[in-house]
Amino acid sequence: MMAEGSGLIEVEELSKAFGVVQAVDGLSFEVAPGRVLGLLGPNGAGKSTTVRVLSTLEQPDSGSARIAGFDVVANPDDARASIGLAGQSTTLDLKLTGRENLKLFGWLYHLPRRVSAQRSGELIERFDMAEFIDRPVETFSGGERRRLDLAVSIVAQPPVVFLDEPTAGLDPASRLTIWREIESLFELGTAVLLTTQNMDEADYLADEILVIDTGIEVGRGSPTELKNALKRDTLVVTFTSAAEREAASGVLTGEDLSAAGDESLHIRTDTRMDGFAALAALADAGIGVVDFEVHRPTLDDAYLALTGQAVERREESA
Ligand SMILES: Nc1ncnc2c1ncn2[C@@H]1O[C@H](COP(=O)(O)OP(=O)(O)O)[C@@H](O)[C@H]1O
Ligand SMILES: [Mg+2]
Repeated sequence: MMAEGSGLIEVEELSKAFGVVQAVDGLSFEVAPGRVLGLLGPNGAGKSTTVRVLSTLEQPDSGSARIAGFDVVANPDDARASIGLAGQSTTLDLKLTGRENLKLFGWLYHLPRRVSAQRSGELIERFDMAEFIDRPVETFSGGERRRLDLAVSIVAQPPVVFLDEPTAGLDPASRLTIWREIESLFELGTAVLLTTQNMDEADYLADEILVIDTGIEVGRGSPTELKNALKRDTLVVTFTSAAEREAASGVLTGEDLSAAGDESLHIRTDTRMDGFAALAALADAGIGVVDFEVHRPTLDDAYLALTGQAVERREESA
């Protein structure tokens, strides 16, 4: 039933504007079975709009998107039947119990009643929801709601799942519970599009990360590739005295240096080996080094660098 491409989610040059706001601006990506694409970007970057267009809740202005081979514009009903949606935008019925919500969604996805009851039972057990599942959802904690939300989105085992900021506003323990549950989706061969503003979340869950800002792609790669793209280790060296630090500055004339405190230097290097070379040069010159540390760039650094560039580009074009 799947069309040509290899992806369960295939997006080409997708754009969507609201009036003068270009929410999504020419995005292209694919997600293969069993893979998680992290769509990372700050507030207002266009993440939810992308998800809404792919979920057939909004029409794109241009470009195309296929879900399990079904075009979201030409074939919205089939596309939608292939999708589970969880996160910010999903609506659980708050007056119903958790179990009744699961039943309702099984019915919406045309699951036979017996299959629906069986899957619900499995999910209640797997997500550890037995204690609260028979209470009305309005009495659930934030973490309990997100767990149910996620369960509801996969009760029909759709091939494609969209998670729109699934852990926004949760405490770290609840967040970890949700992450573990999302991880268990991979075994089923589900293609997951995960939107998040949380670098740790993308680092933990995503195989590939697409960083967007103002609807535009500003970076793409595996978490490691994004970190390496920065090529910026910072070597923090502490000297025996301010005078030794001065002497070190004289030795490391070709390096990108900045002073820190009275007796330390920050040396920005492209690779860790360059950092070692700098230390060796200091040793050769007999400079008194007390201590050193290497700061590796984090995904946070990469993200800030990428979205910072987007801000600069915007200012240039303005
Ligand atoms: N229905 C809408 N009407 C007008 N503007 C919208 C609408 N939905 C989103 N936007 C605008 O589109 C941009 C992207 O929003 P959104 O996709 O929700 O971003 P994100 O999910 O990354 O925070 C924002 O500037 C937002 O204000
Ligand atoms: Mg959003």
